[in-house]
Amino acid sequence: MKPYFETDSIQIYNADILTIKEVKDESIDLIITSPPYDVNVEYANYDDAISYADYLTFTSRWLARCYNFAKPDGKLCLNIPIDKNKGGQKSVYADITTMAKKNRLAVSHDDNMERAEHLKAYGLGLLA
Ligand SMILES: C[S@@+](CC[C@H](N)C(=O)[O-])C[C@H]1O[C@@H](n2cnc3c(N)ncnc32)[C@H](O)[C@@H]1O
Repeated sequence: MKPYFETDSIQIYNADILTIKEVKDESIDLIITSPPYDVNVEYANYDDAISYADYLTFTSRWLARCYNFAKPDGKLCLNIPIDKNKGGQKSVYADITTMAKKNRLAVSHDDNMERAEHLKAYGLGLLA
């Protein structure tokens, strides 16, 4: 796959994190993402109204990819809501934190990111 954008030191791919082959394991210092929240937003390439169980399975899969892509001292910055009410009340932050820990990520709360507007943001650090 050709990068969407490329310089001597940067490649940006517009691709599915679950299947992209161009990103090598243990190659990334910092992953920043605002993942789907399963709140029925209309995306061209993603169904944002799947069952919550399927959503957590999907979440676990991309978290596992993030763990593999990150360098041993890499970091993942994750922007997620504390909870949501569409489709029934769900504790999204608590559930994604549980998924992150299952995928060997060490969760740490970042005070600066907490001041982000509207949504609470959390930094997740990789276990050594
Ligand atoms: C909450 S939105 C992020 C919105 C973004 N922060 C913004 O301000 O535009 C979630 C994004 O994840 C993307 N997405 C869903 N599944 C994906 C996958 N398997 N690989 C990569 N991106 C995916 C969706 O297309 C959507 O753009």
